[in-house]
Amino acid sequence: MSISEISENSWQGILKVQADAYADILQEEIDVLKSKWKASPETCFVFQGPDNEILGYLLAHPWNSDEPPKLFEALLHKPAGDILYLHDLAVRRKARGFGVGKQLSSTLIEIAKLKKFERILLVAVQGAEGYWFKVGFREVHNIFLGPSYGINAKLMSFDAQGY
Ligand SMILES: CC(C)(COP(=O)(O)OP(=O)(O)OC[C@H]1O[C@@H](n2cnc3c(N)ncnc32)[C@H](O)[C@@H]1OP(=O)(O)O)[C@@H](O)C(=O)NCCC(=O)NCCS
Repeated sequence: MSISEISENSWQGILKVQADAYADILQEEIDVLKSKWKASPETCFVFQGPDNEILGYLLAHPWNSDEPPKLFEALLHKPAGDILYLHDLAVRRKARGFGVGKQLSSTLIEIAKLKKFERILLVAVQGAEGYWFKVGFREVHNIFLGPSYGINAKLMSFDAQGY
């Protein structure tokens, strides 16, 4: 079992994870997901099981604002900034509860510290805020998230230099 950077061959597996993890809501097009990876391949990973099956993925890229990028829209240029925006973390249902999410998020936190990002920012959807709270994220209030994330979405931040 291992975590590795994403390659062109990973995408079929990533789409399977997305379909499984977000069965009840609208999923993003492959070009949208790939635009995040192309913008910052060194902060995007997959978790592969014993037979190399992709069981989880994490996509993140640099960002420069508390206002997150819109869902369902490709990044048109390579963003820069002191913030790492965690676009998505998803794990296959059958692989949940075994620490796959924890390992992927810990990998990103290590990179954020090494590369001296100030914060990691994300929008918690599907009630995932409790999960992110356990990882060390805290809710950020009074930021407009826009309609693409849905009404119960919560902006959350992790202080990468404070831990
Ligand atoms: C959230 C998600 C990535 C967690 O992945 P995972 O591999 O199961 O996570 P881990 O095994 O590392 O951690 C599991 C721990 O988190 C807890 N947890 C999982 N989802 C939670 C939630 N919504 N609220 C609170 N705790 C949660 C589990 O109870 C478990 O706790 P424990 O370690 O004390 O037993 C996974 O449930 C998922 O893919 N969900 C659907 C996609 C999604 O919503 N992603 C987040 C987008 S912001």
